[in-house]
Amino acid sequence: MGDLNSSVAGRKRDHIRIALGGDVVPPRFRDQFDEVVLIHEALPEVSFSDVDTSIDFLGKKLSAPLLVGAMTGGEAGTDIINANLAEAVEELGLGMGVGSQRPALMDPSVEYTFRIVRDRAPKALLLANLGGSNVFKMKPSEIRRAVEMIGADALEIHLNMLQELVQPEGEPDFRGLEESLDAICDEAGVPVLLKETGSGISMETAKRLEDKKVFGYDIGGAGGTSFAVIEGKRRDDDLALPFFDWGIPTVASLLEVRSVSDKPIIASGGLRNGLDAVKSLVLGATVASMARPLLRPATRSSEDVKRVLITVQKQMRMGMALVNARNVGELRKTKYVLLGSMESWARQRGLVTSAPRRGLARKKSGLGSGALSDPGSGKCTTVAQSFPDFALGYFAYGYRPPPRPEGRGSSSFRHAVTASCANGKPINKSDKFK
Ligand code: FNR
Repeated sequence: MGDLNSSVAGRKRDHIRIALGGDVVPPRFRDQFDEVVLIHEALPEVSFSDVDTSIDFLGKKLSAPLLVGAMTGGEAGTDIINANLAEAVEELGLGMGVGSQRPALMDPSVEYTFRIVRDRAPKALLLANLGGSNVFKMKPSEIRRAVEMIGADALEIHLNMLQELVQPEGEPDFRGLEESLDAICDEAGVPVLLKETGSGISMETAKRLEDKKVFGYDIGGAGGTSFAVIEGKRRDDDLALPFFDWGIPTVASLLEVRSVSDKPIIASGGLRNGLDAVKSLVLGATVASMARPLLRPATRSSEDVKRVLITVQKQMRMGMALVNARNVGELRKTKYVLLGSMESWARQRGLVTSAPRRGLARKKSGLGSGALSDPGSGKCTTVAQSFPDFALGYFAYGYRPPPRPEGRGSSSFRHAVTASCANGKPINKSDKFK
């Protein structure tokens, strides 16, 4: 363990240092997006130049459904990271979140590390950020101050029980948050999203929240940056070790939440390239979000951040062209197959029923023309049955993926992209074969 900072700002500094310094993604769900295979269209009715990734979200027009996830602010030096991210998203017509603003509510002298985001991105979509373990104890004026500090378009409340349990200065007590949510939504003055930070959101939780005034979810699933790992590295003991890969993987969390809710969903947690983002949208996300892959570039320059985001956007357009989607609406109708552990998850959680070995037949049901049925049971084999738009998943029966030689997924291209994003370098052909 390094020198542990126990002040809020010092803790933020530790997070950045550890996230920049080492591997903070446990292997278990690292390759979950490889288990989502989109059905290729060999005869697309689309020209690459016509693919339109733009969407409207939270009152803003985004050039693509892509955000930079909440990371930092609250300490001298973090303003540079936030400024570089903000300049990049402003120029590219995207959006971003800031890290928890509690340090600035406690010490107004560091407000500038957050304010700089709106200064550098006057038009971009910006998300304010407060912690679930303390937001419901705050005065309405403090919540509004966080929103006004960056002229936010929405407020994210982060849910991080695992982190609170593991971090030496944690506050692992969320009692009272759920019943306060409607009041917080009224007080915030902007739409409020609930954001997990690496453990995902289940369908049971989303169902319970369906009637709340919460605008939507940032599912923050497992498989990306793990705060159990980050906080574990700040400790002297092995307390966090068994929980490094705790949580609902992002792919599964998307299917879970979309199966019970039609509220907007931000997909985050382990997205590492534009194809992961495209897959997230097919699975039901409204917008995709990446955090740590942008951190290293953001310590350098806005140009470096832009280079990564431009590559991700191009990969999104490539993925859309390959499934014959001219726009994001068409993309959502894409068919897909789940493999391995994600297929098993979907089945065990009742998101699909087992497809029969042969004779999958389309059933003209009230569930949308894409719904499949199992003639044996008469049950629909769709994901998200109440959402025909997304209810187009096809599932392989009994499929087992081939062994992975490197134990880290089957796609060398994915690795090249991941490494490239992490390094902030553009992807080129030679990377593919590293
Ligand atoms: C984060 N994340 C985060 N989330 C949040 O809601 N408030 C915060 O203050 C922070 N701080 C933070 C710092 C650092 C250094 C990182 C890398 C991340 C979590 C982040 O928004 C996201 O949910 C996770 O990192 C998962 O996405 P990636 O990194 O796997 O793309």
